[in-house]
Amino acid sequence: MLEKDIKKVLVSEEEIKIISARLGKQITEDYKGKKPLVIGLLKGCMPFMTELMKHIDLYMEIELMGVQSYHGGTASTGDVKITRDLDIPVKGRDVLIAEDIVDTAKTISVISKLLKYRGAKSVEVVTLLDKPAGRVVEFNPKYVGTIIPKEFVVGFGLDYDEMYRNLPYVGVLKEEVYKK
Ligand code: PRP
Repeated sequence: MLEKDIKKVLVSEEEIKIISARLGKQITEDYKGKKPLVIGLLKGCMPFMTELMKHIDLYMEIELMGVQSYHGGTASTGDVKITRDLDIPVKGRDVLIAEDIVDTAKTISVISKLLKYRGAKSVEVVTLLDKPAGRVVEFNPKYVGTIIPKEFVVGFGLDYDEMYRNLPYVGVLKEEVYKK
């Protein structure tokens, strides 16, 4: 049913598995001897974080933070709102933020700065998708799954008006869906 609203598949289910395995292996090597705190930014991070952590072979903890910047539309408002804060302190921790997408980078730069301010020892970012053409704030995530063009994408955690997060792949939404 959802598929009829999708113009094309950009990152398939199979590709997402391969990407997650590659990133998980890299993170495992880079954080050897450390006990990272992987923080997912809700809600978009859910499917990717779940897939990614299966491939991280380390003693690690997970935490979730609720962050919103789109408020229903197709463009970031830049008004980053924390809807749910962390349960544990980040002071002295090696933090790895898990994101579904870095677009304008407004969200990730605000949250990275906040976690550094709170005393994290290191803060890095792993994102399934990177859309450099959308940048408003300069930001280079350390771990990138794949680079995508400037199109409005949904699926695998990414929503339009809270819908489509449950698609098992990332696809481009037909314009007629959001221009109605
Ligand atoms: C989306 C996405 C990222 C952010 C990226 O979150 O999950 O957190 O926007 O956009 P940016 O780089 O332009 O800031 P959203 O605010 O839509 O909340 P959600 O995760 O609940 O979908």
